[in-house]
Amino acid sequence: MSLIIKNGRVVTASEDFTGDIFIEGETISSIGKDLQYPADQIINAEGLLIFPGGIDPHVHLDMPFMGTFSSDNYESGTTAALHGGTTMVIDFILQTQGKSLYSALEEWRGRSDGNAMCDYSFHMAVTDFNENTRREIRDLVEKEGITSFKTFMAYKGALMIDDRQMIGLMNEVRDCGGMVTVHATNGDMIDYLVSKHRAEGKLTPLYHYLSQPEITESEAAGRFVDMAYHTGVRSYIVHLTCEGALNQVREATMRNQKVNVETCIQYLLLDASLYENDNEGAKWVMSPPLRQKKDQETLWAGIQQGLVQVVGTDHCPFMWEQKLMGEKDFSKIPNGHPAIEHRMELLYSEGVKKGRISINKFVELTSTNAAKIFGMFPRKGNLGIGADADLVIFDQEKKHTISAKTHHMNVDYSAYEGWEVTGKVSSVVSRGKIAVSDGKLNVAKGHGQFIARKTI
Ligand code: URP
Ligand code: ZN
Ligand code: ZN
Repeated sequence: MSLIIKNGRVVTASEDFTGDIFIEGETISSIGKDLQYPADQIINAEGLLIFPGGIDPHVHLDMPFMGTFSSDNYESGTTAALHGGTTMVIDFILQTQGKSLYSALEEWRGRSDGNAMCDYSFHMAVTDFNENTRREIRDLVEKEGITSFKTFMAYKGALMIDDRQMIGLMNEVRDCGGMVTVHATNGDMIDYLVSKHRAEGKLTPLYHYLSQPEITESEAAGRFVDMAYHTGVRSYIVHLTCEGALNQVREATMRNQKVNVETCIQYLLLDASLYENDNEGAKWVMSPPLRQKKDQETLWAGIQQGLVQVVGTDHCPFMWEQKLMGEKDFSKIPNGHPAIEHRMELLYSEGVKKGRISINKFVELTSTNAAKIFGMFPRKGNLGIGADADLVIFDQEKKHTISAKTHHMNVDYSAYEGWEVTGKVSSVVSRGKIAVSDGKLNVAKGHGQFIARKTI
């Protein structure tokens, strides 16, 4: 099959021109002006933007967590991703403490194989680093294409590892050419504050926020950055939210250290005042929590300064009924919020349209940088000859309103209900197939493939 997209405004991380894209099979075979190739399908993109399909490197699909499972499985989560212009996601496998990394991989394959609508890959979360785990790492990198290893400095008693394990893991991952990523908040401090608030009868969602003050994140980010410096491992901080943590990264650049940083769309757009609503605050209970307006300013500035390279979602949705598990105790509210579908449109509307970022920066943040950092470039995150034909055709003027009534995520509320957005996905091409067109999905379960990643 071949497809030609005519007369669109083609935007990449570095270019912006009007032209055509010719796709044969799953890859881009030509880009230029007035291409005259016969094609099986034609899309007229006049007046529309064409940019690389989004890559969301931080999602949790069908994940067992806090006594329940995140409510989007591979089918519904990747369907929603495609509707929002994301053509690839990276999900997190969680090792069960006491068990092997490979057994966790098998478990995740059981949920993902044959069920995805868009391409996907895995990070491996190491929650129990020991001699057995150490021996599995090289095989995961070299045989499975899993090159990034996630660590939690929080969720004490469940996912958290200590610094001794962190150093051991970092040394091994460095030797294998991989990367260590981190949820950087101080688990002991948070554990203490949660217990204290509970003992005092302070149980509303606001106390989720007050149990994770900014210092818990800046301290852990600094500690992680120091350990990465000491070991020399490639490093990446996931869902960084605040000024204090970003300043730790800023400081590290002064000793010529490179730390990759992801923030998530919610930390740019939403703030902690939402927790003051006792009845609805649980919608935004996530970790780290939403922060202050000054932190939003820091993150937008950090993007401009090149300190923040990626905007993901940390998509981890729960039905309202699941959120009600913590109705009487904030510490039992499953942590996470839904966003996989609206990251691209929200960032376009709030970022590009409002003049905070350029359109090229938008492409970097939503796609190209993640492809580069996680060993998929130039196959992904790129409109180049030979690249996978993953792209979005986008109507930059179309206004719409986000609502749970119209979204495709398997969750019965929207964290952005009523938000008016300018710019809407018109069509999505995923490995050469028109996957979404005018709001309709045209691919079947299993279209999405596992993408093995390289070390860089
Ligand atoms: O609240 C969150 N972020 N839930 C998902 C797990 C994690 O920490 O990323
Ligand atoms: Zn996290
Ligand atoms: Zn997460």
